[in-house]
Amino acid sequence: MMKSHTCGELRDSHAGQRVTLAGWVNNYRDQGGVIFLDLRDRWGITQIVANRETHPQAHAVADKARSEYVVQVKGVVRQRPQGSENPNLTTGSIEVVAEEVKILAAAKTPPFYINRDDEKIDESLRMKHRYLDLRRPKMQRNLVLRHRAIKFIRDYLDARGFIEVETPILFKTTPEGARDFLVPSRLQPGKFYALPQSPQQLKQLLMVAGVEKYFQIARCFRDEDLRGQRQPEFTQLDLEMSFVEREDVMQLNEALMTALVKEVAPEKRLLAEPFPRLLYKDAMELYGSDKPDLRFDCRAMDISDLAAKSSFPVFVNNVAEGKPVKVIRAPKVVTAEVSKTRVKQIGAELEAIAKAQGAKGLAWIAVPLDETEELQGPIAKYFSVEQKAELFERTQAGPGDMLLFISDKRQIVYDVTDALRQHLGKMLNLIDPDLLALAWVIDFPMFLWDEENQRWDPSQHMFTMPMPEDLPLLDTDPGAARGSQYDMICNGYEVAGGSIRIYDRDLQAKIFPLIGQQMDHAMEQFGHILEAFEYGVPPHGGIAWGIDRVVAVLANEPNIREVIAFPKTQNGSDLMAHCPSEPDPRQLEELFVRVELPQED
Ligand code: AMO
Ligand code: AMP
Repeated sequence: MMKSHTCGELRDSHAGQRVTLAGWVNNYRDQGGVIFLDLRDRWGITQIVANRETHPQAHAVADKARSEYVVQVKGVVRQRPQGSENPNLTTGSIEVVAEEVKILAAAKTPPFYINRDDEKIDESLRMKHRYLDLRRPKMQRNLVLRHRAIKFIRDYLDARGFIEVETPILFKTTPEGARDFLVPSRLQPGKFYALPQSPQQLKQLLMVAGVEKYFQIARCFRDEDLRGQRQPEFTQLDLEMSFVEREDVMQLNEALMTALVKEVAPEKRLLAEPFPRLLYKDAMELYGSDKPDLRFDCRAMDISDLAAKSSFPVFVNNVAEGKPVKVIRAPKVVTAEVSKTRVKQIGAELEAIAKAQGAKGLAWIAVPLDETEELQGPIAKYFSVEQKAELFERTQAGPGDMLLFISDKRQIVYDVTDALRQHLGKMLNLIDPDLLALAWVIDFPMFLWDEENQRWDPSQHMFTMPMPEDLPLLDTDPGAARGSQYDMICNGYEVAGGSIRIYDRDLQAKIFPLIGQQMDHAMEQFGHILEAFEYGVPPHGGIAWGIDRVVAVLANEPNIREVIAFPKTQNGSDLMAHCPSEPDPRQLEELFVRVELPQED
């Protein structure tokens, strides 16, 4: 090895030892006869001292080194003189006196600072020079965290009888609701493979194959719009088990997640153990989302009955039309520093957020700090004294709180509730960054109505088993049937989702037409599964975690790009390697593929 120790390793106890270090120059200071180099590698930073008097040759070479040069240093460890220790470095009590310095590679001046984690760097520069971006200590920490999380998961599942099985990347459409990426076949002109959106079908076939406990750290591919926490290729912990019920899969995954957090992110606190369980319909009614951020409350309360008795015409009419009126209590909006004018401004800002979600307005009432003062807001006057008292009783509103009223069609109420909550969480500093609000959402509807295509869409995927007691509803009222799906949510993200699967061929055949799949087409696409199910299929179920999302949450990163070594940008490109790119015409010829672009206007 070209180094005897890492740059994060040396301590007082090494004083007097002769060592060889190698790494990048993090920092360079020339103080007359003495040059200080901070040498960095993945493990830390060590200060190197090159003295012209005692080691002129080492000093002469060190003098040529610049930021990000790759350097090897031989020298002797010594305790730093008293008063010059650096408490910010783990190696801060020692330094290495250079006897020999060798420049292994020179470096151009990097386009951004690598040694400053707090610096805001232009995103496209980071992506263009991702190899430099990844040199930054924060990114190195994220890579290590990801590695440790995946290793922990593998060991945990291995110890419980699971085996990891690789499944093909070149396969057939495995729909999860996105578009497929297609790969043309050269050997069979005109035919295409699809990259798997998940290993869903293959893991179910592994259950037929008798694997019983399968997992895979699996790459998945989805051609979809890359809003939020999505990448066109991403990584799942994919898992499937035979002879299980919903509870078995949930408990195993909850135990794994809890153990994982304790192991790789011990500074994090869990909201509750066991994880709270929310029914899908309660999640929607209270938070307007099936993946609410539970680190703070701000839930929506239905006060339709009370609002119907008020004299505000909008509410009275809406309730008569069956549209709910809901209220969110935003705590401590009014403080000593917040003027009446500012409160009004906040009301207008929140109203703009509601309107962006399709609401017609957002009525509000602010409770002044001084209880003798009048309530502030456009609709306080429409509530009688008794009604106000009841409103405060139900919402527990106190001095400084603001009540936000939402009334519209149910879906708009959900969307507004969700958008307002997300905004309030940030605006009012309600979010504890060390809290992991892990919870389950269960009892999803099997199907959601697709207005455009006039048909039912599976709310998860077509292999999800209905809840046993809801089976008769498939014939009478499919919209009311609940699926055996379970989602694990954390801090406003869906981090995992799974279900118990249909293992009865006839039931599967009944689902296809419901979701607008012609049986012959379904047979063409999924006949292999239906056929496999005729050879002895065990009851089975499973789940898949979004590994990128889990690691991002554990790393306190707002975007999964930060925990993926080489991610894509919003429009799906890699700015470093410049892809996607145009293929060589010869390649296309070999594949019998012709590109026809639409005429530009
Ligand atoms: P689902 O489609 O819910 O389920 O995916 C499972 C988890 O994968 C993550 N995820 C993504 N992460 C990053 N970028 C994306 N584009 C992306 N899409 C999904 C989410 C999600 O919870 N086969 C089923 C699982 C099963 O039923 O066992 C499936 O893929 O965190
Ligand atoms: P107006 O009486 O029209 O001035 O409205 C009084 C307040 O009610 C304003 O703050 C509006 O934003 C709000 N408002 C109007 N329509 C709705 C609605 N459907 N839901 C909630 N608030 C509304």
